[in-house]
Amino acid sequence: MADPKGIAIVGSGYVGTVVAACMAKIGHRVVGVEIDEEKLSKLQSGSSYFYEPGLDEILRASIDNGTLQFTNDFELAMAQSEVVFLCVDTPPGEGGHPDTTNVMAAAKSIGRAIKSPHVIVTKSTVPVGSGNWLTTTIENVLDDDVDPSAISVVSNPEFLREGSAVMDFLHPERIVLGGSDERAVDLVEAAYKPILDQSFPGGRTAERPILVKTDRSTAETIKYAANAFLATKISFINEIAEICEWVNADVKEVALAMGLDSRISAMFLQAGVGWGGSCFGKDVEALAATARAYGQDPMILDATRAVNQHQRHRVVHKLQSHLRPLRGSRIALLGIAFKPETDDTRDAPSITIASELMARGAIVRAYDPMVKQIPELPDLQTGTDPFSVIERADAVVLVTEWDELRNLDLSVVAEKMRGNVFIDGRNAFDPARVEAVGLVYEGMGTGVVAPPRNSEPW
Ligand SMILES: NC(=O)c1ccc[n+]([C@@H]2O[C@H](COP(=O)([O-])OP(=O)(O)OC[C@H]3O[C@@H](n4cnc5c(N)ncnc54)[C@H](O)[C@@H]3O)[C@@H](O)[C@H]2O)c1
Repeated sequence: MADPKGIAIVGSGYVGTVVAACMAKIGHRVVGVEIDEEKLSKLQSGSSYFYEPGLDEILRASIDNGTLQFTNDFELAMAQSEVVFLCVDTPPGEGGHPDTTNVMAAAKSIGRAIKSPHVIVTKSTVPVGSGNWLTTTIENVLDDDVDPSAISVVSNPEFLREGSAVMDFLHPERIVLGGSDERAVDLVEAAYKPILDQSFPGGRTAERPILVKTDRSTAETIKYAANAFLATKISFINEIAEICEWVNADVKEVALAMGLDSRISAMFLQAGVGWGGSCFGKDVEALAATARAYGQDPMILDATRAVNQHQRHRVVHKLQSHLRPLRGSRIALLGIAFKPETDDTRDAPSITIASELMARGAIVRAYDPMVKQIPELPDLQTGTDPFSVIERADAVVLVTEWDELRNLDLSVVAEKMRGNVFIDGRNAFDPARVEAVGLVYEGMGTGVVAPPRNSEPW
């Protein structure tokens, strides 16, 4: 299996930049393509424009040793590559279907620039069947002297998680390749060989990933099904958490004991304000839209999304039941990013919670170690340290469980506050520790002092 003669990554975002840096780290010559001038110049200068642990180090090392470059020139990128990873964004579009405008534009740019045989690898999460229209789109714009049969599309869904993206990419549990052109699939497998063998410096030979080879539609479906399952697992435990509040049970103990059953596992069984981020919501919606397009009623997928939205509203309800009236109350939100170790705020629960509270007349201030503003909520006040937003707050809500926030000195929190309500939206604190400083603790399905009030329809 010969190594690919160079790799191009199209779309240098959260996924593409990590793929580019890691592919260079494991020994390939890589060209990253990005059309956004601001992002491009930051990447060309050797650092990332977003926060991802460990990324800057490998970016800089690979740029410095000449194995990685970034450009907006598709011809240059195609001339220096044989395998192209498509990593552009697929945001939510009409009717729940992903918006594939950028995939289409990138595919055309790739097709126009190709002069030699290439394998195009879809890493973007694309609707099932996209491999087919991508092939056609690229074929349609190829130069007359390029043989269309020299172009092949392979699906290779990405499972990395923001916050641990570098480690996830370098040490995955499985790599999925979907395609019927054996030569093309083999070439992509060759690109991954150092990861499959864990033979690069720092590889973990005892934990080699499993390679799953399948057809394109199956590979595309695997990505959606995996994300939908994880999202459902979280929504499931969140529904249990609400039941726990009514029956005076503790969801943390329920989840712990459930998770001891290896058929269930403890992963993704933490109750809280629910999932956010750019993928779960969009992917669950996209899979549901696919089901609907065939006349199927995706009942579980719809419930998964509804339960997740409900969690955000439940936080507002909790605040309403403690702070009456909510109007004029000062509320500190701890954490803005959709999860710790990232600065990504796409579909972050903090945004829904802050806007619901502000709409009800509360004064909201938020702090996050990595996020200093939310474009969707320009009116939200943010602070440069946690205590600046806690100062004279009637209630504090933990929204994102950053270590810095988990380790706050609770006696200082209590001292700075005007009120005493502490809502632990991630069940990250020991209720006894919070109560010991004189605060009223309430988690999600744990440590609830009064039954939830179901006063208002959402
Ligand atoms: N973010 C994640 O954790 C994650 C995980 C797995 C899969 N995915 C999937 O990967 C894809 C990319 O996600 P992301 O979070 O990296 O998105 P992103 O928005 O961070 O990055 C996409 C990048 O592509 C660039 N781009 C858009 N059109 C382009 C074009 N025509 N040519 C070149 N560049 C172009 C954008 O400027 C942007 O920098 C999505 O389909 C997503 O669903 C994301």
